Amino acid sequence: MKTTLFSIFLLVLGGSTMAVNELTESWTDTLPDSKVYNESDQYQEVQEILNGKCVSCHSGPTAAHGLQLDSWKHILTGSEHGEAVIPFDAERSLLSEITTKLVGGPHPEELGEPGLTTDEKSFLNNWIDRGAPSKEGLIAFADAEHLLYAANQGDALISVIDMESNVVIRTVDLQKLGFSANAQPHHIVVEPDGSYWYVSLISDNTILKFDRSNTLVNKLTFERPGLLALDPNTDKLYAGRSMAAVSPPQTIGIIDRVSMNLEEMGVFFPRPHALAVEPKSGAVYTASLSVNQIATLYPEDESIELFTMAGEKMHTLVQFAISPNGQWMAGTTELTSSIFLFDLTKNIEIGPIDTILVNSAPWHPSFTPDGRWVYAGNNRDNTVSVIDMNSRTLVNVIEGNGLSQPHGSATSHDGQYVYISNRNLETPGMQMSSSSSAPLPTGKTGYQPRYDLGDNSHIGTIVVIDIYSQSIVKVIEIEKYGSGLGVAGAN
Ligand code: HEC
Repeated sequence: MKTTLFSIFLLVLGGSTMAVNELTESWTDTLPDSKVYNESDQYQEVQEILNGKCVSCHSGPTAAHGLQLDSWKHILTGSEHGEAVIPFDAERSLLSEITTKLVGGPHPEELGEPGLTTDEKSFLNNWIDRGAPSKEGLIAFADAEHLLYAANQGDALISVIDMESNVVIRTVDLQKLGFSANAQPHHIVVEPDGSYWYVSLISDNTILKFDRSNTLVNKLTFERPGLLALDPNTDKLYAGRSMAAVSPPQTIGIIDRVSMNLEEMGVFFPRPHALAVEPKSGAVYTASLSVNQIATLYPEDESIELFTMAGEKMHTLVQFAISPNGQWMAGTTELTSSIFLFDLTKNIEIGPIDTILVNSAPWHPSFTPDGRWVYAGNNRDNTVSVIDMNSRTLVNVIEGNGLSQPHGSATSHDGQYVYISNRNLETPGMQMSSSSSAPLPTGKTGYQPRYDLGDNSHIGTIVVIDIYSQSIVKVIEIEKYGSGLGVAGAN
């Protein structure tokens, strides 16, 4: 049901008005007094409820946390911290959660004010689940252009974030599409024009293809998929194997993105994980988690070159990123906590040009769109390393609230923001590392959610870093175990 709603409501925020009546029967049943509402009545009644019980504290310049609840636009804009309403998902909308699950008494009762009645709560939830339409039937963020997709590996859920306002604007609940609660969405890649996106489900052994309105359009079976990479100049999508897989096939997947047909190509080493495509040549780079080897695949003639790194120490390459001009490839290493820089204009056999030591367990690296910086969160240090590609040195280590087992990374198309997803699974001192026995940081606290909703103590986050100031500007709360991030234009 949810996916159909998406495609029907392709209306523009602030654009021409249009009533949407097709969906009335799906919600009239559940209305508290079984009155039949039209679009405009439903929002009107929502506004009356909020006027009666909320706007005394949530309007004007002194509104609590900047959250104004006095108009549709304000409600959908959210607070200074983030969204209050996620259209189509009442269950995960703070406006609903805070008035039902807040520990210490549901809000605003905890402030000594009358709370919402059961009928009012279900009326609000119903409105949100229908997309929180305005009185004209508009759905917020239907026209959002620059989207960030975040996998919640612990929740069978994808969060979709608008990169202009940095709020969660949609969720895609995989369980509602028939996948398991433990599907483990891991990594996401997006077509260069944003038309489709792909996600790997580790435990469900599946790779899914969604269109821009989040309708599932195709899927294929692939054993323990991990990282994905796409070639922007062809129809090829590549898939490696998850870290959770102990002895997966020694192949990577080569997928035709149009037909979603799969071929497998041997890489001749165990546990292929790190994965990136050099867009100019179409060469694919992958590395093993358990031997110090990198394979370069040339899809046009299906040839492969293997490169063994010098030295005895096990590195465990986690992930690659390639600079926009195709010259540099950054590779993060879990066990030696380094970022390798390979010059792809030279033979990879000469090894990394630079080995930059960083804090513990750098995870997914990202280049900024101008190629100037490489960012990577350090999974066991709760920090983010910043490499300046002019000097090819570590120039900054960012720390701060929201960084808790950093995992994925992505940059916005305009080069303004870097996004770092965080697992936030572990209590410091506890050990739940996916692939090694290295100790976790002690004395570094995990992220404490802004509100105690009883069930959210370990929710993941996406930390938004401003590239110009290299500082954290926002912490977006998502669901459990923030892992891979996908944006259009990254490969
Ligand atoms: C008596 C004043 C008061 C009333 C009435 C009130 N709120 Fe609040 N609201 C607050 C304050 C203060 C906060 C910040 C809470 C905190 O810091 O713990 C808040 C926070 C919130 C937030 C979280 C904003 C964020 O992002 O941090 C939401 C959502 C919210 N209120 C919704 C409502 C709704 C819905 C109603 C009506 C049912 C309501 N509030 C009524 C004072 C009020």
